Amino acid sequence: STVTDATPIKVPTLPDAQTVLSVKHWTDRLFSFRVTRPQTLRFRSGEFVMIGLMGDPDPKTGKQKPLLRAYSIASPSWDEELEFYSIKVPDGPLTSRLQHIQPGEQIILRPKPVGTLVHDALLPGKRIWFFATGTGFAPFASLLREPQTYEDYDEVIITHTCREAGELDYGREVIESLKTDELLNEVIGDGFWKKIKYYPTTTREQSPKMGRITDLMKSGECFSDLDVPVLCPETDRAMICGNLAFNLELKDMLESYGLEEGANSKPAHYVVEKAFLD
Ligand code: A2P
Repeated sequence: STVTDATPIKVPTLPDAQTVLSVKHWTDRLFSFRVTRPQTLRFRSGEFVMIGLMGDPDPKTGKQKPLLRAYSIASPSWDEELEFYSIKVPDGPLTSRLQHIQPGEQIILRPKPVGTLVHDALLPGKRIWFFATGTGFAPFASLLREPQTYEDYDEVIITHTCREAGELDYGREVIESLKTDELLNEVIGDGFWKKIKYYPTTTREQSPKMGRITDLMKSGECFSDLDVPVLCPETDRAMICGNLAFNLELKDMLESYGLEEGANSKPAHYVVEKAFLD
């Protein structure tokens, strides 16, 4: 018999496989992870892709199908790696398994980025608002690390409402990291991060600012805390990403301020996207 002197080649075992580089668990319900980026993947900060794992074999045919869900890319468009921020749903078909991934393992990533939370869908403005609940922070983790955000706006306001204080940690760490972000400091200039106003709130656990962002806006408390006027179509642009009820309620409020929904094909004043739930 012949012995082939085979050089080991890294062969992906899954279609569209990418390798997990690191995983961080933030709470018992939340984790983030970084994976390799396909060389050909181009995306705009704020977009999402379909990611997942191989599903269980079909009991009849034994065939396995990929189990995919839409995930916002949490890293900016210039980053060499891709980051994702996820909830862990105990009975969730995907996240019950995805939460156990380890560095070196593979996930499936369909390299077709899409989404509405992109700068192209908004008209020029003075101030941009990013409104997030829960894992809806993910696309803003990308946009907050995107130079264009600071080129396009004088002021960047990020609100994040979560049930518990620990659920704010991922977002806070992303915002903290901006101060020492070499690329942003170089491209945008020292102190660009002073343009950012961060407004974290909790609803079910004590924290410095309690309440739903929608209620804090209705009462006017949010605007006085931030020392900004109520949103108006002349100066303000907004992106919304959270649970469905939140998206609908905030959308109504923005419409009542006179803002109109934009799209890639027809830029306007605000855009909305639903946060992933398994
Ligand atoms: P609350 O605790 O009052 O429901 P979830 O984890 O259920 O997706 O919620 C994330 C955060 O979004 C929670 O703090 C929740 O507040 C808040 N939230 C849920 N629905 C709305 C809504 N319609 N408007 C504003 N905030 C909401």
